[in-house]
This record gives sequence, structure tokens and C-alpha cells, in this order.
Amino acid sequence: MKEVFLLLTGLVCFGQQTYEIHRATSPIRIDGKLDEQDWRRAPSTGDFNFPSPKEGEKEQTVAKLLWDEENLYVSWYVNDRHISASVTQRHGPVSKDDCVEIFISPNPDKVKNYYTFEINAIGTMLNRARTDWWTGPPTWEPDGVQYRTTFHGQSKKEESPEDTHWIVEAAIPFKNFARDAAHTPPRDGDRWRLNLQRLGGITNAQSSTWSPLPPGVRSFHTPEAFGTVVFVSAQITSQAPAGEPGREIYNRSCTQCHGQDGTAGDRGPALAARRRYLRVTERDLFDAIKQGIPGTLMPASPLPDADITKVVAYIRGLRATAIDTPAQGDVAHGAQVFNGKGRCSECHMVNGRGGLLGPDLSNIAGERSLRFIQESLTTAKPHIPQGYQPVRVVTTDGRRIRGVVRNEHNFSMQLLDTEGKLHLLARDELRDVQYEKQSLMPSDYDKTLSATELRDLLAFLSRQGRRSDGDSGRRRR
Ligand code: HEC
Ligand code: HEC
Repeated sequence: MKEVFLLLTGLVCFGQQTYEIHRATSPIRIDGKLDEQDWRRAPSTGDFNFPSPKEGEKEQTVAKLLWDEENLYVSWYVNDRHISASVTQRHGPVSKDDCVEIFISPNPDKVKNYYTFEINAIGTMLNRARTDWWTGPPTWEPDGVQYRTTFHGQSKKEESPEDTHWIVEAAIPFKNFARDAAHTPPRDGDRWRLNLQRLGGITNAQSSTWSPLPPGVRSFHTPEAFGTVVFVSAQITSQAPAGEPGREIYNRSCTQCHGQDGTAGDRGPALAARRRYLRVTERDLFDAIKQGIPGTLMPASPLPDADITKVVAYIRGLRATAIDTPAQGDVAHGAQVFNGKGRCSECHMVNGRGGLLGPDLSNIAGERSLRFIQESLTTAKPHIPQGYQPVRVVTTDGRRIRGVVRNEHNFSMQLLDTEGKLHLLARDELRDVQYEKQSLMPSDYDKTLSATELRDLLAFLSRQGRRSDGDSGRRRR
């Protein structure tokens, strides 16, 4: 029995990415435009990674995914100053041209069974089914894929000084994956593995992937490095309280570039994400909007000053974490509830003391809004966050372990048990694995604690943290 106990702090995990695929709320027209509200609201997968080293400008690709009963929808917004493509033959060598790809493993337990879709800028596609059951030719004919690119159907695209970007929009029917996927269409919470890629071109050729390749590996055909996607039934919810005047002005005036409700857009950064912002104070935000940011795509806004002030208030509201708006109550009593009746410290660490099963809450008020913290105590999240999936396993030598999955690969699983011990278990040591449906985080504290206890607990939690942005008045640059 190979069992390894690792120090939590020494964990080296492979840099795999995770992304939640939200359900589309209305039909997506495959026209290469991405003008549907669902595309605007969907978060991007995050920056693509470049295998080192790369000479010349690294050009980013903004990829997004959506789903419905029928299809997986994929879009790529490809920033590209030198767009060229000439392969027009079906299944031709499109990856020499400016090209995007998605490689999909519909079953995380059989990650080596994957399907490829490679599309160049003029809309030529190459497909393969790299699966253990496919016995046909090297290429494969998927059923019913619809897609459009910016230069769709042209016989050739030559580089031009006007080049800035191109788009691919695709709908891939789930029925193509019925042989491997657990469910088609997927169910809420189903996990698949996939990677998104971009490559090719003549001048300043690019090669980048969403989920990074391991050091030294260059082949995109490395399914072990694919990221994890989770199908989520919940629609994308706005983070902002409804009816704020600045929100309406923002969503009307700024979402050509920034995302709806302060998320990241195709051409502008998220204004509400939890990160370090360049512009923090009201003055800086006001100036950035009124005058634009020289040397960047951010334009001067023609809005009247009164509207800009409302938008500034709105952006600051989006960024506020609990520490900016701490809840009223008896903080010392809240600490007692945390360590006593609430039993929070059995699973959560605060300032170096407490359990390991849940996230460390030492800086929770600097990271999360009061509303988020309150909801964590009273409402189960629509799906269990990565790293906290509860599981019960039986090993081949008959031991039973209950805990949460910290990390999972094809060949092994890292499991933190309820005693706080970390187990590294190889797949062939596991006789049975049962994933539990409910997070270990109780979500009924509005019923098990009194109103006063809950209020005081929130007062305590909303003071655990450092003020990271707020209104310190310092300029970060
Ligand atoms: C044409 C695209 C575009 C439009 C329209 C646009 N922005 Fe921007 N915005 C950007 C880009 C790009 C940046 C990043 C600039 C940089 O690199 O510093 C940015 C940055 C910002 C920043 C600074 C973020 C930070 O923390 O440093 C703020 C604030 C902002 N935009 C607000 C707005 C508001 C409000 C509107 C609508 C009135 C708006 N933007 C419209 C593209 C745009
Ligand atoms: C049996 C273990 C357990 C207990 C008891 C528990 N939690 Fe949790 N908690 C978790 C786990 C696991 C997560 C992460 C998974 C999730 O969010 O569902 C979590 C998540 C949270 C989060 C969200 C953190 C974030 O940044 O996403 C907060 C806040 C939280 N717990 C607070 C509390 C408080 C306060 C108590 C006591 C009233 C408590 N928890 C009791 C296990 C527990």
C-alpha cells in the first residue's frame, strides 16, 4: 500500500484550470458575432498560457463556453495583428494557418478519449476522435457542428495592416459524445476535461493554451493537462443589487468592452473581480472614465459628470468587501459562536488555529462581500467548489476513508480526511469511490443559530481580514 502523507504547505499541484460553463438563457445564433447577452455575460476562461520562451508579442485569446440541452457553445475572440489562412480542404493542415482548437474529454475517468475541433480563420475544420473505440480513418466526421469565423468561406486571408482580431463561434451537439460522456446532455455539476488552443500564422506565429502544458511539453495532445469544466444549470447572476442607478448607466455605456455587471469583457478588464486594481480612489476612477486611459483602448466617456459619479459609486460598491461594510453586532460573542456552538473552527482556520477541511477564513472579510458570507451560512452553493468535493472511498485493502478531494488526476487522488490527514491514493488502490452530493459546509445556520448568534457571528466574520483596496487614497502604479 503506497500511502503518502504530505505537508499541506508543500503541495505542488499541476497548474490545471477550472471553469464553470453556464447555461444559455436564450438561443445562440452561430454567426461569428457574439452579440448575444449570454456571450456578453459569460465569464472568459481566463488568459491563455504560452509555453516558454516566446519571441515577439504574446497575443491573448478570450475564450468563453455556454451550454443548453443540445449543444456546447464555444467562442474565441482572437487578438491578432497578422491574420492569415489559406487551407480550404476539409481536414487539411489548418494548424499552419491562424487557427483555434478545442480538445474535449467528455469523461474525466477516461481523459485519453478525446475529440478535436480545429478551425482556421477562413472556416476550414479538421476533426479527430482520439478514443479507444474509434477504428475508422485518422479523421472523424462529427454530427451537426455549426460554426462561423470572421473570414468564413474566403478562399484566402492575407495579412493586412488593418488586422486587429478575429472571432470563431461554434455549436457542438452533445450527441457526438454519447459514447464517452456519463450523460448527454450533461447534468448540473457534471465535470468534463478540455483544453482550448490557439496557434499558427506567418508573422509572429502564436502557440498558446488555456490550461497550461507541463514544463518541457509542447504537444497539445496531452489530455492529462486539460483543464476541468463544470456544467452549471444556474444562469449567470449579477453581483450587484438591482436598481442601482450607476449599474444601469454602466451596463448601457461600457459593456462593449467590459463585461455585464462589472465582469471581464472581450476588450476590457473586470472592474469588479477580486484583484489588485490600478485605480482605487473615487478621483482616480472618475478621471479614468472622464479622460480615458491614454495609450490603451479605454476611451474618454461622453457621459455627463453626474452620471460618471454614479458609475464610480457603482464600481466601488461592486468592489467592496465585507471589511468595507462590517456588520453590526457583538464581535466577542461572534467569536464564541465561531469556536463553540457553530463549530466553525472544527473545519476552518482563523489566524493559524482551527481545522483544515474548509477554506482558511483569516482574510474572508477582505476577499468576500458581506452578502456572500451571509449566503455561505444559509444557502448551499449551486455546486461544490473545486478542492472541497466530499468523498467516501474504500481501498482495495478494505479501509474506509471520508474526506474532501483536494486534487484529482487520472491516476491518483489526494484526499484530506475528516481528521485532517492527507492521503495520496493511486486509482488502482481504490475499490469504491462515492462522491457526496452535499458540501460539508452546513447551510442551515439561519435555523440552527438564533438571530442574535447569527448577527454576532457575521459581525465577527466581517472583521476578519485586511483592507486590500478600499479608500486608502494611495495610488498603485
Ligand atoms: C473601447 C473599449 C472600452 C470602453 C467602451 C470602456 N472601457 Fe474601460 N477600459 C478599457 C480597457 C482596455 C481598460 C484597461 C486599460 C489599461 O490597460 O490600463 C479599461 C480600464 C478601465 C478602468 C480602470 C480599471 C483599473 O482598476 O485600473 C475603469 C475604471 C474603466 N475602464 C471604466 C469604464 C467605464 C465606467 C466605462 C463606460 C463609461 C468604460 N470603462 C468603457 C476599455 C474600455
Ligand atoms: C464540517 C465542516 C464545516 C463546518 C462545521 C463549517 N464549515 Fe464553512 N465550509 C466548509 C467547507 C468544506 C467549505 C468549502 C465548500 C463550500 O463552500 O461549500 C466551507 C465554506 C465556507 C465559507 C465560504 C468561504 C469562501 O470563501 O468561499 C464560509 C464563509 C464558511 N464556510 C464559514 C463557516 C462558518 C462561519 C461556520 C460556522 C458557523 C462554518 N463555516 C462551519 C466546511 C465547514
